Amino acid sequence: MISFTLNDKPIKIDADPNMPLLWALRDLLDMTGTKYGCGIAQCGACTVHMDGSPIRSCVMPLATIAGKKITTIEGLPSDASHPIQQAWLDHNVPQCGYCQSGQIMSAVALLSTNPSPNDADIDNAMQGNICRCGTYPRIKAAIKDAASKNSANTTITPNPTISPNPTSSPNSTFDFSLAKNVGEQA
Ligand code: FES
Ligand code: FES
Repeated sequence: MISFTLNDKPIKIDADPNMPLLWALRDLLDMTGTKYGCGIAQCGACTVHMDGSPIRSCVMPLATIAGKKITTIEGLPSDASHPIQQAWLDHNVPQCGYCQSGQIMSAVALLSTNPSPNDADIDNAMQGNICRCGTYPRIKAAIKDAASKNSANTTITPNPTISPNPTSSPNSTFDFSLAKNVGEQA
């Protein structure tokens, strides 16, 4: 049994400790907002936060996240009130959308540690997030916009209204008495 915090709720998963976090999110918890792209930490589609820092969940074994605080795209406000979410909407950033949850999680992590990033800061923070649709100019503009408008309001308030589906795998268990409404299906 592996215990960790998922979107501010305690959670326990009965799974192989070597299973990557991305598999647990998508296949055991039905939290499909985090995407599978390459599976080898090269594209950023699977980006989530561990203790506030962006990680590639496709290569992060469950054993490594025991006791950690994990935040996924489902942990962002459901009303899109986070400055990055607002800027993404204002700038119509997504095209096909596949990379965007990873892009957003990297951008949120950037602003949480650097409320006023310059171009180099943005390039450095976002360089590991690949977009096959080439939305990079809109991503950068949105991050700058979010930083300029809302630099003091970049903390995540988890969405309290949405739940994972822990019954999708016979290998998973989910302690609903301790952890309700931890995530969102997407
Ligand atoms: S799927 Fe994890 S970095 Fe590509
Ligand atoms: S919006 Fe299509 S891959 Fe980025």
